[in-house]
Amino acid sequence: MHDSPANHTNEDRHEDVERVLVSSAAIARRVAELAQRIGDDYAHADGRLTVVPVMTGSLLFAADFVRALPQRRLRLQLTTVSSYGGKNTATRGSTLTGSLPKHLEGHHVLILDDILDSGGTLRLLRSEFEARGAASVRACVLLRKKIPSAMSTPCEYVGFDIDDEFVVGYGLDYDDLYRNLPFVGTLRPEARG
Ligand code: IMP
Ligand code: MG
Repeated sequence: MHDSPANHTNEDRHEDVERVLVSSAAIARRVAELAQRIGDDYAHADGRLTVVPVMTGSLLFAADFVRALPQRRLRLQLTTVSSYGGKNTATRGSTLTGSLPKHLEGHHVLILDDILDSGGTLRLLRSEFEARGAASVRACVLLRKKIPSAMSTPCEYVGFDIDDEFVVGYGLDYDDLYRNLPFVGTLRPEARG
């Protein structure tokens, strides 16, 4: 629990959600903190920063994050990696299903992802971007599961460490649903049919 239930607003509920793990208010505060800190770390990179949100899970995170980032001259290049499919809730290895950003030479690349789980996504993208001549490659995830595979995967910026549970909301889906919830929570067993 990253926030007391007393702080949960009416937005922070849905009939299919069992438990709210990170409230919308806690997300907003943490995204602002991350943007300030990362903004400082990239002060030297204005105009040479390429932010790469991993679709579709980091769509909401990326939209909030890039607006809070002090750097006003950055490139946004989306990429798509699939690891879960449909009703699976266990990772099956990462596959690139979209195109990779181009012209990375001399650019500082910041990968944004929703959640760090097996680590396959970040390892795959990091090696691709390094091979493409990026000046630096770092990663920022909103959530990281407290499991060995995630904790041992290099990741420079982490929003919240959470227990090893399947979560939805704020970009994360189950069978392509619930991405639009403004908070992160677990699903009731009945909703995971
Ligand atoms: P990794 O490559 O195993 O680290 O997995 C990262 C991707 O798996 C994330 O970007 C999500 O799309 C998906 N994923 C991992 N855990 C969850 C979860 O609890 N709920 C929804 N999607 C998840
Ligand atoms: Mg994803």
